[in-house]
Amino acid sequence: MSNYHIKHLEEYYQVYRKSVRNPEVFWEEIAEEHFMWRKKWDNVLSWDFTKPEVKWFEGAQLNITENCIDRHLYTRGNKTAIIFEPNDPKESAEHITYKQLHDRVCRFANVLKEKGIKKGDRVCIYLPMIPELAISVLACARIGAIHSVVFAGFSASALATRIKDSECKMVITSDGSFRGSKTIDLKGIVDEALEDCDTIESVLVAKRIDANVNMKSGRDYWLQPLLDEAYHDCEPEIMNAEDPLFILYTSGSTGKPKGMVHTTAGYMVYTAYTFKNVFQYREKDVYWCTADIGWITGHSYIVYGPLCNGATTIMFEGVPSYPDFGRFWEIVEKHKVNQFYTAPTAIRALAKEGVEHLEKHDLSSLKVLGTVGEPINEEAWHWYDDNVGKKKAPIVDTWWQTETGGIMITPIAFATPTKPTYATLPFIGIQPALMDENGKEIKGNQVDGRLCIKFPWPSMARTIWGNHQRYKDTYFSAFENKYFTGDGALRDEVGYYRITGRVDDVIIVSGHNLGTAPIEDAINEHPAVAESAIVGFPHDIKGNALYGYVTLKETGESRNHDNLRKEINQLITEQVGPIAKLDKIQFTAGLPKTRSGKIMRRILRKIACKDTSNLGDTSTLLNPEIVQGIMDEVL
Ligand code: WT7
Repeated sequence: MSNYHIKHLEEYYQVYRKSVRNPEVFWEEIAEEHFMWRKKWDNVLSWDFTKPEVKWFEGAQLNITENCIDRHLYTRGNKTAIIFEPNDPKESAEHITYKQLHDRVCRFANVLKEKGIKKGDRVCIYLPMIPELAISVLACARIGAIHSVVFAGFSASALATRIKDSECKMVITSDGSFRGSKTIDLKGIVDEALEDCDTIESVLVAKRIDANVNMKSGRDYWLQPLLDEAYHDCEPEIMNAEDPLFILYTSGSTGKPKGMVHTTAGYMVYTAYTFKNVFQYREKDVYWCTADIGWITGHSYIVYGPLCNGATTIMFEGVPSYPDFGRFWEIVEKHKVNQFYTAPTAIRALAKEGVEHLEKHDLSSLKVLGTVGEPINEEAWHWYDDNVGKKKAPIVDTWWQTETGGIMITPIAFATPTKPTYATLPFIGIQPALMDENGKEIKGNQVDGRLCIKFPWPSMARTIWGNHQRYKDTYFSAFENKYFTGDGALRDEVGYYRITGRVDDVIIVSGHNLGTAPIEDAINEHPAVAESAIVGFPHDIKGNALYGYVTLKETGESRNHDNLRKEINQLITEQVGPIAKLDKIQFTAGLPKTRSGKIMRRILRKIACKDTSNLGDTSTLLNPEIVQGIMDEVL
């Protein structure tokens, strides 16, 4: 079991050195000892960042669900794999054992087959956090279908864009979802999306809220009767190491969302290995990640990573504030959670409510706390450490991305001394580099720059679905022979990394990665709008909130600005989703532009942040007079 479980800092450094000196030998050992292969690889790694092309474990054959489920059946068949904690605390939790998970995944897989889904087909999953979500993901993987999970908070048009981009054949959804005291009509959203998608042949509908929904004959099927009829065993499809496992969309700074493609073997090895080490998961532990499976965090660290380790993983359907702000702590106490992984935005929202909710619950089971999704501010870090972990549970501040598939820079619990706001050290096998604006690597400590990764790791996304050129342009063109993350970072005197935030036009709101382009497109569809630009500005709870500068068409007609603001946010809700609504909308006479017509967001960002002492270089502006006007009326 060499190297699989790192226990102290010295060991981290030893293993790290080995992993970068001889990556192939290192990853081969990990892969060899801890996973189930139908056939071993011919070659551990081949790569070329100029194409770019990366292949791990080429020639190997496997099925990831055999690793997540089947191989545990003899040793852990009756162990709980998934605990489903419903939205309503009065509804009882459901414990699904590995044996039951096997049964349910196999039945679901057989339903998919019966509906004509084959290896390589794309299946869109648009479900709330109910067991069917994890089960349908695994069922796709069982038969080699490529799942494309779309977060069930996205609107019909965002869903349609994603379905069309990857030409999905099927949608899996539910009659609706619970969210706190509200219900959401998911099936209605799917119906609307499908008006405009011609690749979908069937829709499977899980029952969750007992809503009266329209079922389109010949297209829509209730899931449960099909599962009841289906056979309880299903031979796994044997996949090649580099066969796509899933597509997951993420925002870019421009254009439509990018369908990041993750492949099978490398993704499995890396997510499993990071899960085990970062969280120091032990056999009897109960692990809870509060993310939604609609994001990469849920894919890698609710489903694949934990199940590959035979862990018990919690799926929570609800929200932190329902029925009150004690809900998370009630769940921690109820299931005796040992590892708790959440986002800074949730921590800030909970901290705002004070400690009285915490004090009502026994949190002594907690051993490790995690955070992900955006930089965590010092105050939130200390609140988490003092009140949730009682200074005894290390905080793992894990930096990574949809594109990286797994955790990249992070403390290893109990091994790496933590430091507030620092993601600390690269994980085993990860080779970060900080770059200056001229494309040169900045060596040494106490420096800052743009964060790149200079060597492949097993779980990196291999391409953007249908657009390899965009993959190359976005990630491999800014710096020669390196993967560019889009983030800035600094390295302190001992080599710890602190992520300082995005250096592009992606804005992270409540941990959700939002591209400016689709939101601006939505705003611009308003008949009164000529042009718009959005930027982020600091927000106490969300980390960043959105600030929109909107120029109206000159029609001579005066419109009520408050009504316009509502209409604009309504359009955004319809086209992108409620998470992308603007907190502030300022109507401006124009937008600052460069001579080539590019909006200077840098200036707008400073104005929105009320940081106007130094606007930087404005010499390339075409219309400098606009800037003063905007500053005078800033909200
Ligand atoms: C972006 C990626 C990876 C799962 C969730 C987000 C930011 C993520 C941290 C962290 C500072 C972080 C980065 C990154 N980010 N984790 N621990 N500290 N920033 O995935 O939606 O692909 O977003 O989230 O800016 O580039 P994502």
